Amino acid sequence: MNETTPHAATKRGSFTGKIGFVLAAAGSAVGLGNIWRFPYLAAKYGGGIFLLVYILLSLTFGFSLMIAEIAIGRKTGKSPVSAFKSLDHRFAFLGYLAAAIPAIILPYYSVIGGWVTKYAFGFLLGEGGEMAKETYFGGFISQPFEPVLWFLLFVALTALVVLFGVQKGVEKVSKFMMPVLIMLMIFIVIYMLATTDGAGAGVAYYLKPDFSKFSVMTVVAAMGQLFYSMSLAMGIMITYGSYMKKEISIERSVHQIEIFDTGVAILAGLLIVPACYAFSGGDPAALGKGPSLMFGVLPQVFERMPGGGVIGFVFFVTVLLAALTSSISLMETVVSTLMDKFKWDRKLCCLAVLGVCLLLGLPSSLGYSAWSSFKVLGMQILDLFDFISNSIMMPLLALITCVFVGFVIKPSTVVEEIECSGKFGWRRLFTVTIRYVAPVFLLAILISSVLDAFGIVKI
Ligand code: PHE
Repeated sequence: MNETTPHAATKRGSFTGKIGFVLAAAGSAVGLGNIWRFPYLAAKYGGGIFLLVYILLSLTFGFSLMIAEIAIGRKTGKSPVSAFKSLDHRFAFLGYLAAAIPAIILPYYSVIGGWVTKYAFGFLLGEGGEMAKETYFGGFISQPFEPVLWFLLFVALTALVVLFGVQKGVEKVSKFMMPVLIMLMIFIVIYMLATTDGAGAGVAYYLKPDFSKFSVMTVVAAMGQLFYSMSLAMGIMITYGSYMKKEISIERSVHQIEIFDTGVAILAGLLIVPACYAFSGGDPAALGKGPSLMFGVLPQVFERMPGGGVIGFVFFVTVLLAALTSSISLMETVVSTLMDKFKWDRKLCCLAVLGVCLLLGLPSSLGYSAWSSFKVLGMQILDLFDFISNSIMMPLLALITCVFVGFVIKPSTVVEEIECSGKFGWRRLFTVTIRYVAPVFLLAILISSVLDAFGIVKI
């Protein structure tokens, strides 16, 4: 981003060009969601069938919502609260709701970021063999202090970048890091497939849809993951859209961001799911491990590779960088909303966000040790925050956004904005999705995830 060439009246930064926009948006989108969250959901919710549902949803819902958010941002040239307000003052609350979501995600995101930092350091210190042990990860997160320290380190790194507002740095890091991450992942996947007995069956589990494994929860989980992974339904794309120049095609950019984001997720799944399948002999308990899956499986893969210690280190460092570009975008959103609203300076807002982050992040970390017996609706604290943001707040916000675009400002407002830079190829798909398909679906999802969580209906 550079600080000049803003939109007409506002003094906003703008991305240097199309590549800058796509990379910055992809930098926010590609993160732990793709590498840590996607594989464990795919493993848990039936492998191939989850993948299929996810891809279908991303081409329809993901595409339409991202288009709508970026267009709203670019049209108004404002951050979420003011953007909704300027389009219709009754909907200003949507902006606040949107800003609350990253505030909930950031703390637990940073806890996981801390685990990644620990693993990167572990490999650096040559502890790869130690970390490959079955019980290592469980032992690590159940210590009361160490995970908290790594969490603090991760938050501090994020806050430092946000404090100095080094957007240029973020753009540069993303440009370099994305290709490294992708190449490294392809290499590790090929290596793992070639050297692990039984990986073939794991690949089949991951890629072949088995319709008997389909359930409503497959769709609920895939939808939640989609929002999370594409950084949707929390105002981030509105903010980024406001930095985008008029002559750049929103439609083409969205396709590219999706390819990036979904591509990295699929690759990460291909890396983790078959390996887990092979090591556990397809045991559903191992596949359903959840948040600990990546940390349990990958060190085992690295342990079998010659030079695995070095590869493990490089891998976790790139994951760490991917996580940082995302956590920075999370924190930046909250900070800029506070700055707009209260007119505080950046430092004070950073401090406030840091405080909230510590307050909410500590319990997420301690939820695996000192407070492990504390559960709400059968969920650990970290899972609970994840559930509230991804399964409740984001679908709710997405639902209201769809109604807002579909019936209040009308899809034509978005279409006009997209057509500033040429024809809108997927216009019909967009209009139908945003008006009819998405709201119905989102409502159904919202209801079913609530019923499921309260144990009223087991889906
Ligand atoms: N999309 C990021 C990921 O996949 C997470 C994130 C969510 C980042 C929301 C910013 C905003 O990890």
